[in-house]
Amino acid sequence: MARILTGIQSTGIPHLGNILGAVRPAIRMADEGSNEAFIFIADLHSLTTIKNAEERIHNVHAVAATWLAFGLDTERHTFYRQSDIREIGEFTWYMSCFTPYPMLANAHSFKDKSDRLSDVNAGLFNYPVLMASDIMMYDADYVPVGKDQLQHLEITRDIGQAFNRQVGETLVIPEAKVQENTKLVPGIDGQKMSKSYGNAINIFESDKALRKRVMKIVTDSKDVDEPKDPDTCNVFAIYKLLASPEQESALRDRYIKGGMGYGHAKQELYELICSSFEKERARYAELMANPEQIEQELKKGADKARIVGREVIGRVRSKLGYVGAGA
Ligand code: ADP
Ligand code: TRP
Repeated sequence: MARILTGIQSTGIPHLGNILGAVRPAIRMADEGSNEAFIFIADLHSLTTIKNAEERIHNVHAVAATWLAFGLDTERHTFYRQSDIREIGEFTWYMSCFTPYPMLANAHSFKDKSDRLSDVNAGLFNYPVLMASDIMMYDADYVPVGKDQLQHLEITRDIGQAFNRQVGETLVIPEAKVQENTKLVPGIDGQKMSKSYGNAINIFESDKALRKRVMKIVTDSKDVDEPKDPDTCNVFAIYKLLASPEQESALRDRYIKGGMGYGHAKQELYELICSSFEKERARYAELMANPEQIEQELKKGADKARIVGREVIGRVRSKLGYVGAGA
């Protein structure tokens, strides 16, 4: 049985891109064959940027509610909050002493973030070591990730191999599973949808706010009567990610024929979002109104994750000679 593991940072409410690009594919992969999945909310990673307690708690709940609303099976899989397993801090220290400094200094996500952010802290620098620990403290075999995380997986493997070489076989060396067939979801401006570009669609907003957001999608200024090109239109690009083949070709025909304004296409998209995610939106709202239910789920997951984490850290401590009374 393979263990797959993935984490998602709690830095905001997951948007349509996160859902179609990460949440849904990970749930699908978790449920395949006899896989067992560890899925966690990376709330310690979020401290590199978010310092406010209420914001952190709200974000953790929003991310958790998203996974639960999209049907993650928390009986079969292990769904937990990173910070609930306190051993992760200790494990990260052990890993950091097997991490060559230049490897972190050359990590492109660090370089990119240190150019963009005003708060360039050591946590940001150590981010890949914490991520490596997230993976190896739970003996994960496969890690489903987007292409942007591949270098972090290489770093993880390098740290694990360095550890095993220097102190003997201890850690499972994980493999990345790149989500090849997931499509990049464009934002309302046509660029990749991203929190940091301010172009995201949040499907969990109220009907009114969601509709308003969809109406903001950027289009060209063709008149109602003119034929339009579906293949260069941002509205259509998002529509086709959710539509059935029949719905897609029906809307395509209306674009090409002319006589349909972009307002209509946007209304179609809004309605499709509502109907595609009706159940998930309702479940999300219910969970967010009952945070204690979310906490219960996270506690159940932490209790399962802790057993595995403690076993692995026990192996590491004994290999390193940390065998005192506290161990
Ligand atoms: P953001 O760009 O909004 O900060 P993250 O980088 O935190 O999002 O991404 C979290 C997960 O969601 C990653 O696995 C990433 O590959 C996926 N993801 C993010 N944006 C998109 C998108 N526009 N289309 C598809 N997947 C996405
Ligand atoms: N760095 C990942 C991201 O930004 C989140 C993450 C943290 C993660 N720890 C992980 C992903 C462990 C996979 C495995 O998307």
